Amino acid sequence: MKKALSLLTVSAMAVSMLAGCGSSKPAETTAAATTAAAAETTAAATEAASEAATEAAAAATDADLSDKKVGVCIYQFSDNFMTLFRNELQNYLVSLGFKAENIEIMDGANDQATQTNQIQNFITKGVDCLIINPVNSSSAATITDMVTAANIPLVYINREPDAQEEQRWADENMKVCYVGCDARQSGTMQGEIIADLENHGDINGDGKVSYIMIEGDPENVDAQYRTEFSVKALKDAGIEVEQLDDQVGNWDQAQAQSLVANSLAQHGKDIEVVFCNNDAMALGALQAIEAAGETVGTDVYLVGVDALQEACDNVKAGKQTGTVFNDHISQSHSAADAAVKYITGGDNEHYIGCDYVKVTSDNVDDVLASLG
Ligand code: BGC
Repeated sequence: MKKALSLLTVSAMAVSMLAGCGSSKPAETTAAATTAAAAETTAAATEAASEAATEAAAAATDADLSDKKVGVCIYQFSDNFMTLFRNELQNYLVSLGFKAENIEIMDGANDQATQTNQIQNFITKGVDCLIINPVNSSSAATITDMVTAANIPLVYINREPDAQEEQRWADENMKVCYVGCDARQSGTMQGEIIADLENHGDINGDGKVSYIMIEGDPENVDAQYRTEFSVKALKDAGIEVEQLDDQVGNWDQAQAQSLVANSLAQHGKDIEVVFCNNDAMALGALQAIEAAGETVGTDVYLVGVDALQEACDNVKAGKQTGTVFNDHISQSHSAADAAVKYITGGDNEHYIGCDYVKVTSDNVDDVLASLG
């Protein structure tokens, strides 16, 4: 298991605690405020957050969980980010006292029918709690009905159901919650990384930033928000923008590589910024950029989200302009802690949030150290 509370995670937690939005939906958290607050986080606050989290973990482990069963459904095992998430989740559940053989994790293979069958099997087996990363968040209402009818508590992760569905959990007092980050914040941070450059992303000096957008699965609110808010942050900074291309890469490296190669063949050096909704696609974009003989930082800027190890290595080497840390450690721990609370008869907020952290060459060493 990764260090439960890396310095980075602690400071992000301290920020969210200070801002009071760690466990409830951030109203309109501005990324700028978050970043400024992060810089000002004092050692004392960091220590306090660390102590509070240690106490919470200790309290959670008081109960005997050795005979409790958890079913976990992941939308697709081949997703890089969800692989980090599920490995951390598994290790943390064991550290809380669950037996490894009582934690079953299924691959939905990006097919809702397959995942729905897996959920049905978990219900038949009588697991004590389900943690679900839905293939389609629009199937959440059906999933919730199936699971709650069997009196099994449910923790959704990573793919947020819509507001109407979340409202129902509160109205009907269901043992159902969602753990995730607000993707508007990550999109805003991507835009800010470009706006903060000396030339504000305008490499050719024509007074506007010409960009291409490579989107994740459009059904996923993370993709929708990152697409919208990255560009909004540039506009909010008073920068004129021009969209040269907008393509769906489905969170996937190979798809992004071919999309960016096509776009470069069409627009060449007119492209000043490549926005990718995640790092897997930024890795694919980099392959296409290098194959076209272009250099990140000189010919084009490139940003992603997640802070995958490989992407951070690229930020350090100047081959990716920046990324945004999508804290799989904090999210997986919050999901497991919520499951324990339900299993031991407690309750949870219906929305359990988490803050993103901007990553550039300025802080990439700290981020890499925290990822271990
Ligand atoms: C991550 C992506 C991932 C997706 C899966 C997003 O939050 O940034 O890398 O593919 O979740 O749903």
